[in-house]
Amino acid sequence: MRTGYASEEALSQRFEELVRRARSAVDRALLPADTPPRVIHEAMRYSALAGGKLLRPVLVMAAAECAGGPEAVNDGVECAAAAVELVHTYSLVHDDLPAMDDDDMRRGQPANHVVYGEAIAILAGDALLTRAFEVLATLPERGVEPERAVRVIRELAEAAGTLGLIGGQVDDLAATEGRVDLATLQSIHQRKTGALFRACVRIGGLLGGAGEDDLARLTDYASALGAAFQLVDDILDVVGDTAEMGKRAGSDQRRGKVTIPSLIGLEEARRMAEEETERAVASLSGFGPRADLLRWLVRRILARRR
Ligand code: IPE
Ligand code: IPE
Ligand code: MG
Ligand code: MG
Ligand code: MG
Repeated sequence: MRTGYASEEALSQRFEELVRRARSAVDRALLPADTPPRVIHEAMRYSALAGGKLLRPVLVMAAAECAGGPEAVNDGVECAAAAVELVHTYSLVHDDLPAMDDDDMRRGQPANHVVYGEAIAILAGDALLTRAFEVLATLPERGVEPERAVRVIRELAEAAGTLGLIGGQVDDLAATEGRVDLATLQSIHQRKTGALFRACVRIGGLLGGAGEDDLARLTDYASALGAAFQLVDDILDVVGDTAEMGKRAGSDQRRGKVTIPSLIGLEEARRMAEEETERAVASLSGFGPRADLLRWLVRRILARRR
């Protein structure tokens, strides 16, 4: 088993390779655009194959690599990686709807509902979510033991559910008025954003053969990564560039959202994101060089501009 990377260049090359594999896996997980009813299959592909960063599927693969080496990133892992990206894409399509954040731009193009209308955007989100679980149900055909496959399905369902992403989104909607404190915002972030990141690394870990101790380490890593990720997202909403991000800057302020930067200031929020990043890296200390890619990924998040 190869452990560790010789250079920054090697890490960056492996990352680019995994991004390509993630994109291809998402493409294969979706039905062709000309499948009737055409509009729904087009709408699903429109958002899922736009310019997303594919961070979540890459995390699934990086966690599998951490647990079982580069060869562990096999067909089953790619399939699970695609499934989490479908769930994430559904959450973005619905997040942009007029009833939610009312954003008209996503992944460098008009939002799904702007192109296809609200009804199809709602259905495309529903269909992406449903397809994710349909795809995961093929894991046993790809050599994953049925018991492990069920555990993977459960991880994703719990993360996407009312104690995870949906619950976080519900409380996020209410975080526009009244007194919202730092602890409330952190709890929202842990659910609306952190839960799916935790599922990514736990699913990758499970498929790569990680034991319970390693899964716990990966979970701590993803909790800190999720916190850093949403902090940077909220900071970029203030200081980022619309063209570079592919979504409109200033959206939170326009909606009157209380965010961590609006509560404690940009500089302090930045410091918190740095702390969370170091916390994520520290969670991986037990892994040694096997976790090089996961360390590199979380540091990259801190420096991201999109
Ligand atoms: C956006 O996620 C939603 C948040 C949790 C802040 P990403 O910034 O990963 O979006 P894509 O996938 O690259 O479009
Ligand atoms: C969204 O958070 C988190 C989701 C679960 C979709 P945001 O509302 O801040 O994400 P963006 O800024 O629209 O991507
Ligand atoms: Mg939102
Ligand atoms: Mg939003
Ligand atoms: Mg945002």
